[in-house]
Amino acid sequence: MASRRMLHAAAAVCALALALCASSIGASSSSPAAGARAGCRKHVAKITEYGGVGDGKRSNTAAFARAVADLSRRAGDGGAALVVPKGRWLTGPFNLTNHFTLFLDHGAEILASQKLEDWPLIAPLPSYGRGRDEPGPRYSNFIAGSNLTDVIITGRNGTINGQGQVWWDKFHAKELTYTRGYLLELLYSDNIIISNVTFVDSPSWNLHPTYCTNVTISGVTILAPVHSPNTDGIDPDSSSHVKIEDCYIVSGDDCIAVKSGWDQYGIKFNKPSQHILIRRLTCISPTSAMIALGSEMSGGIQDVRAVDNVAIDTESAVRIKSGVGRGGFVKDVFVRGLSLHTMKWVFWMTGNYGQHPDNSSDPNALPEVTGINYSDVFAENVTMAGRMEGIPNDPYTGICISNVTAQLAPDAKKLQWNCTDVKGVTSDVSPKPCPELGAAGKPCAFPEDELVIGPPELPKCSY
Ligand SMILES: *[C@@H]1O[C@H](CO)[C@@H](O)[C@H](O)[C@H]1NC(C)=O
Ligand SMILES: *[C@@H]1O[C@H](CO)[C@@H](O)[C@H](O)[C@H]1NC(C)=O
Ligand SMILES: *[C@@H]1O[C@H](CO)[C@@H](O)[C@H](O)[C@H]1NC(C)=O
Ligand SMILES: *[C@@H]1O[C@H](CO)[C@@H](O)[C@H](O)[C@H]1NC(C)=O
Ligand SMILES: *[C@@H]1O[C@H](CO)[C@@H](O)[C@H](O)[C@H]1NC(C)=O
Ligand SMILES: *[C@@H]1O[C@H](CO)[C@@H](O)[C@H](O)[C@H]1NC(C)=O
Ligand SMILES: *[C@@H]1O[C@H](CO)[C@@H](O)[C@H](O)[C@H]1NC(C)=O
Ligand SMILES: *[C@@H]1O[C@H](CO)[C@@H](O)[C@H](O)[C@H]1NC(C)=O
Ligand SMILES: *[C@@H]1O[C@H](CO)[C@@H](O)[C@H](O)[C@H]1NC(C)=O
Ligand SMILES: *[C@@H]1O[C@H](CO)[C@@H](O)[C@H](O)[C@H]1NC(C)=O
Repeated sequence: MASRRMLHAAAAVCALALALCASSIGASSSSPAAGARAGCRKHVAKITEYGGVGDGKRSNTAAFARAVADLSRRAGDGGAALVVPKGRWLTGPFNLTNHFTLFLDHGAEILASQKLEDWPLIAPLPSYGRGRDEPGPRYSNFIAGSNLTDVIITGRNGTINGQGQVWWDKFHAKELTYTRGYLLELLYSDNIIISNVTFVDSPSWNLHPTYCTNVTISGVTILAPVHSPNTDGIDPDSSSHVKIEDCYIVSGDDCIAVKSGWDQYGIKFNKPSQHILIRRLTCISPTSAMIALGSEMSGGIQDVRAVDNVAIDTESAVRIKSGVGRGGFVKDVFVRGLSLHTMKWVFWMTGNYGQHPDNSSDPNALPEVTGINYSDVFAENVTMAGRMEGIPNDPYTGICISNVTAQLAPDAKKLQWNCTDVKGVTSDVSPKPCPELGAAGKPCAFPEDELVIGPPELPKCSY
């Protein structure tokens, strides 16, 4: 009886929330596209209505497929939300659909199947030419979508668990013939919100928005063991207008890596990552970067703004990784406000990253790295301030570093700055920089305009 009463109460709350949503849509319907923007869905269904069982044992692959197929029919009629209640919902990979919300309630955990046969093979990305781990096709991503608009993944901090251990073990044992799947990959999609959910133990990269526009990722927690292989947190790839804010990431690879395709495949596909805002990130990644630009950057990376970010026990802060054969560019990068606690290299640029898709990379495809500004950096327990390696005969230029205090670790290097094939200026930087980065006498640039990234605001709806 008690549980039935609770259900009734919950239904009443839902009805009220829907009524509020509906009335707010109605109230603002004079402004164009207000209904679409509001993000509260007209149709709401629970995974249990499609035969889902949250016992952590039985497979829900068919239930998710049925739910998405059914709810996709609502896309043109106010959209739909699929609610995943408290419980452990084991499933193989599944796809999302248009005008759709995946809502994970408090205590809800979607568990990825650990049976490899549940993960069909899919085509490699055109901008990579092959899988990232192995040549040829790749395993499906766990949650995926192509050519979608208006997708929201949210809830009351429920969890999407990749159960990656079997993949990591097989990867280390060299038992995988194909590339591991990512936990969430969206292709050619726009108006995406991922908010207030937790992602754990991805087989490989966690969130991979690729060829996307208008992506907001906020209040997201991403956790993986710090020695798990390639568990990057968030990798915006050939995507533009991406906002990542208030996220907490602990991982075995870069917390964030902005990418845009790999060598000749990325050059040919030619789609940059640009207009990216990353703020108030907290990162822990002892063997990788807080934010990496590259190493796959062959379609170009431009206009990246990183503001007020924190790293703890992380190898480097905002690192540029590239090399001969990549082509492309990294330019107009603005980093303002870094708080760094225990770090090997505060500034790290790499010009000989290696890792090529095959033997057909063009040795004349030299990346252009220029216009990289850093200001307002406090770091403590630092091993080395700057390891700055450009590319011989293709220097990294237009580097500006201002207002930096790096307090050294007891076992810090004697040589604090090692600079080769880089050019730029510094001001108010301690310890004293290398001669390649001469005195500027003024703070580094930061754009005055604000990046406008849609959807304009996070929806306030409850399911
Ligand atoms: C997801 O959609 C892609 C096409 O975009 C398709 O190839 C794949 O089979 C679908 N996966 C599932 C699990 O339905
Ligand atoms: C998605 O859009 C891209 C680019 O327009 C197109 O090449 C691709 O075939 C589309 N994929 C699907 C599954 O519709
Ligand atoms: C969300 O859940 C994760 C994992 O349980 C936890 O670490 C994090 O603090 C939670 N976030 C919020 C805002 O409650
Ligand atoms: C996530 O939580 C924050 C803080 O409670 C809230 O402002 C925001 O609207 C939520 N996001 C979504 C998509 O509901
Ligand atoms: C700072 O960024 C601007 C804009 O991209 C760029 O022109 C400049 O070269 C950068 N570095 C310096 C030293 O000002
Ligand atoms: C590239 O060439 C080397 C040496 O010629 C060969 O061992 C290797 O298998 C080749 N790699 C690919 C991906 O073709
Ligand atoms: C220098 O950076 C620190 C943060 O490390 C900041 O608090 C301070 O305001 C900055 N100083 C100037 C003059 O901008
Ligand atoms: C300083 O960094 C070293 C590693 O370089 C680490 O072992 C030590 O715990 C750190 N100390 C503090 C106070 O964080
Ligand atoms: C400085 O960097 C260059 C280029 O990477 C490297 O060859 C050299 O060994 C480094 N010097 C020291 C003292 O680490
Ligand atoms: C992205 O969002 C902005 C601001 O809301 C909007 O003007 C633009 O049309 C959106 N672009 C796409 C492709 O949805």
